[in-house]
Amino acid sequence: MEILHIGAECYPVAKVGGLADVIGALPKYQNKSVNNVSVVIPCYQTAFKLDNHFDCIHSGKLKLGNFNFPYSVLKETSNKLGFEFYLVEIPELFDRPNIYNYRDDLERFLSFQIATLDWITGLSTLPDIIHCHDHHTGLIPFMMKYCFKYEKLKNIPTIITIHNGLYQGIFTFNKLYYLPEFDLFHVKDLEWGNHINSLGSAIKCADKITTVSPSYLNEINYSDNGLEILFQRVRDKSKGILNGIDLDVWDPNTDPMLETNYSINSFDEGKQKNKEQLCTLFNMNATKPLFSFIGRLYNEKGADLLPKVISSVLTTFKDEINILILGYGDLEIENQLKQLLEVYNGNYHVHIGYDEVLAHKTYAGSDYILIPSRVEPCGLNQMYAMRYGTIPIVRRTGGLKDTIIDFEDNGNGICHDQATVEDVCDSIQRAMNLYQNKDLVDQIKIKGMNTDHSWEHISQEYIELYNLIIAKRHEN
Ligand code: GLC
Repeated sequence: MEILHIGAECYPVAKVGGLADVIGALPKYQNKSVNNVSVVIPCYQTAFKLDNHFDCIHSGKLKLGNFNFPYSVLKETSNKLGFEFYLVEIPELFDRPNIYNYRDDLERFLSFQIATLDWITGLSTLPDIIHCHDHHTGLIPFMMKYCFKYEKLKNIPTIITIHNGLYQGIFTFNKLYYLPEFDLFHVKDLEWGNHINSLGSAIKCADKITTVSPSYLNEINYSDNGLEILFQRVRDKSKGILNGIDLDVWDPNTDPMLETNYSINSFDEGKQKNKEQLCTLFNMNATKPLFSFIGRLYNEKGADLLPKVISSVLTTFKDEINILILGYGDLEIENQLKQLLEVYNGNYHVHIGYDEVLAHKTYAGSDYILIPSRVEPCGLNQMYAMRYGTIPIVRRTGGLKDTIIDFEDNGNGICHDQATVEDVCDSIQRAMNLYQNKDLVDQIKIKGMNTDHSWEHISQEYIELYNLIIAKRHEN
């Protein structure tokens, strides 16, 4: 089976969040059981692009309304990612250091989708499945079905995986002319809320919809993301499949980003050494429990709660506790967190920015990971944390609800229900009490380290889904 994944990020080439981790891992595991899995993303100006060798295998000119952009398709030559990897290079739109947040993001990602389909249409062997990820690739199922120039792709089944339903790629109908010519009878398949809605269109046109956890699938049917009624309508073609993690990358025993490696047999000593190294870096005392947050600083992740949580906890526990925050995002949250440095020094630190190495060191060196998300379609942090023997403190939502059970119910972490300062502080208080009971703490850590969240079997669930939609297309 030939599978093509199309997305905006892929670890280690270009990463903003968990989307990259999934697109960098799932195909690798699928490749072990399926003939040929490939991934295509836009060509950003990233270190991986500069440091690795690519062959140009195709070039052309894409048309976006009245604009014409030259593009090339580059193939990574060594297959070091574990699957065939392609970059669509559109210099005018993507030769920039960041992945998102440019004024012309609409033009950028729509051009990427058009260039990708132009290229695939010309291939002698077509993929058996096109697997799209998030709204940046949301118009692909529609274009494959209805654009005249992609007639050849019409019978290839498509699947859309929703990693985050809050972002939908919405734009007005006066940009309709950006799309290649299609049968106007089907224009309604682009529309949701009187706008062109890229994710909404994918939900209507794809053969299958998956969310990255079962609970998130339930939640999006009722949450106020604007698409809830649409989700309810397509329930019978939707499935929640919990993400996995890449055990090759996330293994404390072999992780090259750690100064001290450790396994389940040596985690006590190993974690303490990592904690000492981390604490030395940030002027903290490694004899106290270390609570960390790793992630994007947005309301969606509950990061707006952090400044008040930190003030409250550091007032209550004074010198008994360490708190470390790694992340970037909302400028106001960043500033509030930075200001706290002036008040609480020696047991609090914030590192603004994305730093993969520091993130690995923090999973290894922390006692607890805080994940206070308002919305969490899956969440990988709790899985990474457990693998590194670190106890997750989570709000029960989405994938967090599917993976973490409170230790008082014989589980593997600490849970609360509300995304409020009070609930997070209460969980931290319980974590501080728990910390006194080393035997129980160790049991929870061991339970976490033993949990199998590998892609190995989860990737099979996708393959089953592919087989199902291929069979269904053949029936029709
Ligand atoms: C997004 C979601 C996160 C999920 C990740 C990978 O970043 O916010 O919950 O784990 O995608 O699917």
